[in-house]
Amino acid sequence: MKKYHITTFGCQMNVHDSEVLAGLLEKSGYSPAASIEEADLILLNTCCVRENAENRLYGNIGNLKSLKEQNPDRIIGVCGCMAQQATVVEKIRETYPHVDLVFGTHNLHELPRMLKQIEAERSQLYEIWDSEGEIYEGLPVKRTEPFRAWVTIMYGCDNFCSYCIVPYVRGRERSRGPEAILTEVKELIASGVKEITLLGQNVNSYGRDLQESNFNFAELLKEISALDIKRIRFQTSHPKDLSDELIQVMADHPQICRHLHLPLQSGSSRILKLMNRHYTKESYLELAEKIKTKIPAIALTTDIIVGFPGETEADFEDTLDLVQKVGYDGAFTFIYSPRPGTPAAQIEDPTPMDVKKARLNRLIELQNRISLQKNRAFVGSLTEVLVEGVSEKNPEVWSGRNTQNKLIHFKPTSKVKPGDLAIVRITEARTFTLEGELL
Ligand code: SAH
Ligand code: SF4
Ligand code: F3S
Repeated sequence: MKKYHITTFGCQMNVHDSEVLAGLLEKSGYSPAASIEEADLILLNTCCVRENAENRLYGNIGNLKSLKEQNPDRIIGVCGCMAQQATVVEKIRETYPHVDLVFGTHNLHELPRMLKQIEAERSQLYEIWDSEGEIYEGLPVKRTEPFRAWVTIMYGCDNFCSYCIVPYVRGRERSRGPEAILTEVKELIASGVKEITLLGQNVNSYGRDLQESNFNFAELLKEISALDIKRIRFQTSHPKDLSDELIQVMADHPQICRHLHLPLQSGSSRILKLMNRHYTKESYLELAEKIKTKIPAIALTTDIIVGFPGETEADFEDTLDLVQKVGYDGAFTFIYSPRPGTPAAQIEDPTPMDVKKARLNRLIELQNRISLQKNRAFVGSLTEVLVEGVSEKNPEVWSGRNTQNKLIHFKPTSKVKPGDLAIVRITEARTFTLEGELL
């Protein structure tokens, strides 16, 4: 039996795409390889959201050359967002002739056919579709976890934030039909899944492209909440599209987790305008306050870009000010990375990298202080976790997450097993985790 190995870079979309690729391969008779050296097929599922992601990929492709030399029948494939860019495809063609297969984000469902073709013709195959076409339903999925599952509700993005490559490599927004989503969720529940995460680059614009109905994201959430699912999460929410109706649906349904990832990107209204984000410092703050009032237990997390072209010290201080005022439970922070072909890459950027790095460090320091403070508020309280099993970081303890998506470590007892919902008393707070005892 042939064996496969997939390395995944990038966001949850890619993680879930890799689950579909694995599903397709297993249906065609492949089984997972115990290590990359053992694999007959090696796939790199790539991300290009920032330049360092790209550099890491080239390093990885280079390293695979010796594996190909050891076994020339082995197939090496590169897929995902990077492969959707013509310049990258050219670079692979010229620099890495040991790569046999390159395909983009729009034709992963064709993988079994492409592999057969390579084997039959014993030649390389580059297949990148320019446009997205229809949504392929019913593809096999090899889920990596038994109790939590990702469910894509829409593909692509129409927002064209000026710094971002995603709309170019993932295509226009396409929503899956509500029936297909509900059917998938019901099947997951029947198979024992306790928590689902609905995925989309901007879940709040779900349904806009569906002709037959004006079914929106809030309505979809309401329908899913009526099913027997313990926990519902979703990501990502664009602040410009987050409706009062959605806030109300969240407030009304406790199985929708008390966590909202609401990317800010910058706290400066001037920079937000240049970023094409369609909200201001004031309107974002107003939205965050409204959410906190309606759903008091909510944990807010965010993404922030430091050093967008032309960002001044005053702009950056607006970001610090907003971070302080909103009081996020956590933040992913990035230094701006110019992406060729995006409008922001054309803007003059006089700020030196060491200034940007110093700003990033100030932001991280502030956020870490706030994260710890937020976590300390849990000490002494009881909280429900979905038990995941042995902690990735420390094999002595188990871990799980509560509704606020806090990662909690605790000593296991014979009473609990992975997939259980268990009550933990929080005993200690750290910046990124909580410690507790099972009741
Ligand atoms: N659709 C989601 C995720 C987009 S990518 C959203 O809108 O939030 C995840 C994060 O990467 C973005 O939120 C942004 O903070 C960051 N990012 C995107 N492009 C970037 C770039 N060119 N440089 C640095 N960070 C970037
Ligand atoms: Fe990129 Fe903006 Fe779309 Fe998110 S909403 S994927 S940041 S263009
Ligand atoms: Fe990266 Fe593609 Fe996701 S560029 S962040 S893997 S959509």
